[in-house]
Amino acid sequence: MLLPEEVNVIDVVCRDGFQMEKEFIPTEEKINIVNQLSQLGFKRLQVTAFVSPKAVPQMKDAAEVVRNIERKPGIEYSALTPNMKGASAAIEAGVDALDVFMSVSESHNKANIRMSVADSVNAIGEVISLAEKHDKPVVINLATCFGCPFEGDVPKDNVIKLAEDFLKMGVEGIVFADTTGMANPRQVYELTSEFLARNPKANTILHFHNTRNVALANILAGLQGGVINYEGALGGLGGCPFAPGASGNVPTEDVVGMLEETGISTGINLEGLIGLAQYLEKVIGRTLPGQVMKAGRVCDLHPMPGA
Ligand code: COA
Ligand code: ZN
Repeated sequence: MLLPEEVNVIDVVCRDGFQMEKEFIPTEEKINIVNQLSQLGFKRLQVTAFVSPKAVPQMKDAAEVVRNIERKPGIEYSALTPNMKGASAAIEAGVDALDVFMSVSESHNKANIRMSVADSVNAIGEVISLAEKHDKPVVINLATCFGCPFEGDVPKDNVIKLAEDFLKMGVEGIVFADTTGMANPRQVYELTSEFLARNPKANTILHFHNTRNVALANILAGLQGGVINYEGALGGLGGCPFAPGASGNVPTEDVVGMLEETGISTGINLEGLIGLAQYLEKVIGRTLPGQVMKAGRVCDLHPMPGA
């Protein structure tokens, strides 16, 4: 198999994971989880979202979280910012990078950020200019790249065109997100291989939800397509509150487990990640979807019965 030697795994549990939780997670607990994640070898963590507290009450403590986490050198701490208001607040609180977002499909973009696709591109253009002034890199998260829960098929050419528009606007990276787990491996391979053939230097990141249990297969397809950056959420928590039927991200520890077993280095401490996922399960108070957090690492052998 043609596989990379190293892959960069990014955790987004403190945003994509927490945003769906009805019960407010105490700010100190959020800070604690970011601090624990910081010890495990990640190079980038998405730690919160500067969004309307009416739309997503769980994220109302964004500034407090950013201000109080322990910054580990070498980690880029980013936050999701939907508009100028969010971007200014995030910069003021001291994030390292801004994650802006919009959907490729009109109807999901309306449901999520109440704007047309064209208006979103313009609005994000303003955020990019603001970020440039403050020397903050911007990563664009494109939602519904592999299908829209309202419209169905999202044409690959639309996704590539939008991503290329953002490259011209100076973004540091592009996340192709499968917001509601509609992607299949062939589609992932075709999008990523074509996009990277056209833009070989583009910092390309994939973000899968495991809604239909196809996320790890899609990651394998992304690896074949040449992508070396993947997002996950600890324990598989999460989903988009503005997409019907959305469920958790691919569990970060399952991604790390698969990659490491395949001989692809992630630099992440899997044992520590499993322990933290088990801890998160206690914080959230229900069983999380992650599999490796229950089964353990492949090398964790059991005593033979009767031995
Ligand atoms: N941070 C804090 N408050 C914000 C904000 C931000 N980034 N953006 C808007 N608001 C507040 C406004 O101040 C206003 O408050 P008010 O009613 O007290 O005056 C209220 O939200 C409405 O603002 P408005 O300008 O009318 O924008 P909107 O309602 O169209 O907001 C969004 C659009 C997208 C910013 C908002 O709906 C939002 O944050 N949604 C959450 C999106 C999200 O997190 N999705 C999940 C990620 S996939
Ligand atoms: Zn997501």
